[in-house]
Amino acid sequence: MLDKNGFNEWATGYDKSVSDAEKAERYPFAGYSTVLAEVRRQINEPRGAEILDIGIGTGKFSAGLYEEGARICGLDFSAAMLEKAKAAMPDGEFHLFDFNSGLPHELKGRSFDYIISAYAFHHLDDGGKAAFLRSLAGNLKPGGKIVVADVAFNTAGDLTACREQSGKKWDDDEIYMVAERLLPLLRNSGLHAEYRQISSCAGILILH
Ligand SMILES: C[S@@+](CC[C@H](N)C(=O)[O-])C[C@H]1O[C@@H](n2cnc3c(N)ncnc32)[C@H](O)[C@@H]1O
Repeated sequence: MLDKNGFNEWATGYDKSVSDAEKAERYPFAGYSTVLAEVRRQINEPRGAEILDIGIGTGKFSAGLYEEGARICGLDFSAAMLEKAKAAMPDGEFHLFDFNSGLPHELKGRSFDYIISAYAFHHLDDGGKAAFLRSLAGNLKPGGKIVVADVAFNTAGDLTACREQSGKKWDDDEIYMVAERLLPLLRNSGLHAEYRQISSCAGILILH
């Protein structure tokens, strides 16, 4: 699993390497565009919507929403990734912060129409994911939605099958969402939670 220095080094080649990895149709980026298209489908009206993107990276995905008129607030612990995101979204708002500590002070009392995150939540363990999602529920406007896309599986058996198929490519340090384990932890969050498998190794979690 990469730390912030690793992501800083990856920032320059990130967009291309994701596209190349997606073409290979293998873990971890198989179906990346389809997964993000599904996240986009969850956003009814981007124009004027306040959207928090957690682990925004280069802004590859949020830049499209920005072009459609959304007000993007991005959080990432990699300064080099944020530099790219800022270049793509000059009027965006950006925070250099490690989400292992939740949200930065400036965002704690803020609320958003949508909170999205793509391919970043695997840096938190199951308990950490559930705790963060519960706290993010308090940052949603009425009618708002949280959408988390990542390498993810319906069952622990599906994850094991993907790990076996992926061989040496599998990253044992990353902690992927397994819906049958995570959904029960979200039952008392006050939000309706559902999971959809989109590709062989990725899916989206929707909370509203
Ligand atoms: C695989 S990239 C995904 C970037 C973008 N969301 C996308 O779909 O293209 C993961 C991003 O999450 C950020 N990230 C990982 N762990 C983080 C943490 N603990 N706090 C803040 N950002 C983190 C990385 O710096 C990186 O930009």
